[in-house]
Amino acid sequence: MTDAQGRYRFPRTRLEPGQYALRIRATGYDLARPTSAVVTAGQSASADLALEKTADLAAQLTNAEWIMSFPGTDQQKLTVHGCAHCHTLERVVRSRYDAEKWLAVVQRMSQYTTQSFPLKIQKQFGGQRQGMGPQTAEGQAQSTANRRRLADYLATVNLSSGPKWSYELKTFPRPKGEFADSTLRLDTKTGEFIEYPMPRFTDGRRTWVDDRTTPVAFWVGANHSASVVKVEALDTPASPVSDSR
Ligand code: HEC
Repeated sequence: MTDAQGRYRFPRTRLEPGQYALRIRATGYDLARPTSAVVTAGQSASADLALEKTADLAAQLTNAEWIMSFPGTDQQKLTVHGCAHCHTLERVVRSRYDAEKWLAVVQRMSQYTTQSFPLKIQKQFGGQRQGMGPQTAEGQAQSTANRRRLADYLATVNLSSGPKWSYELKTFPRPKGEFADSTLRLDTKTGEFIEYPMPRFTDGRRTWVDDRTTPVAFWVGANHSASVVKVEALDTPASPVSDSR
């Protein structure tokens, strides 16, 4: 991650000598050209990165940024939150379903278990998820009406009416500062903060701190990619946090 001056670094203990291709993640930008760095033993290497405005902003938006960009009331936006539980909203916004077709898709989604995601599809035994299928006639009618409302709304946020979204894509301000994309662990014995850079987005459901190793590592479960990510400290303790966020 870059600091306030735009400098970035990688822990020396993690880099074997060799040639490395560099990639970036900064919403709104792409690398202007493929860039690599050659690391030789015992020496530091540097590579300046040139960025250019991205041609495909939609591919970089987070779920929260999509919801912020959506037209409609907060109440309407709230109904879409659950659609980001098992996968990102990208497949929702890039679809071309009209309200009628959405109805069938929404119905199908309600039949998956909460542990389902597109790489591991699991259907609920006996129909619908708990809480999704009220049994009384009144409940059924309510639930049908809710689905209809959701289907109508979904058709206003996807590509059902043309090749471009009808609303402007908004992004959050770029996080600033050295700790913008990392987790800090306080060593209670020394008062030191140890910095753990986050390797990629995770919706970290579970974090497990493994203090049998030095340095201490975090294990973070990431639901969307069905992966478990090991997060290790940078090789230098970070200075105590002032207000760099
Ligand atoms: C319980 C998990 C779960 C939830 C919640 C969920 N989905 Fe899905 N979704 C899946 C799975 C699994 C797949 C892949 C299998 C499939 O397409 O049926 C999928 C695929 C999709 C696809 C791509 C396939 C297609 O038919 O185009 C779209 C679009 C989609 N979901 C929309 C939604 C919307 C809208 C919501 C909210 C109403 C939602 N999903 C909520 C699990 C879920």
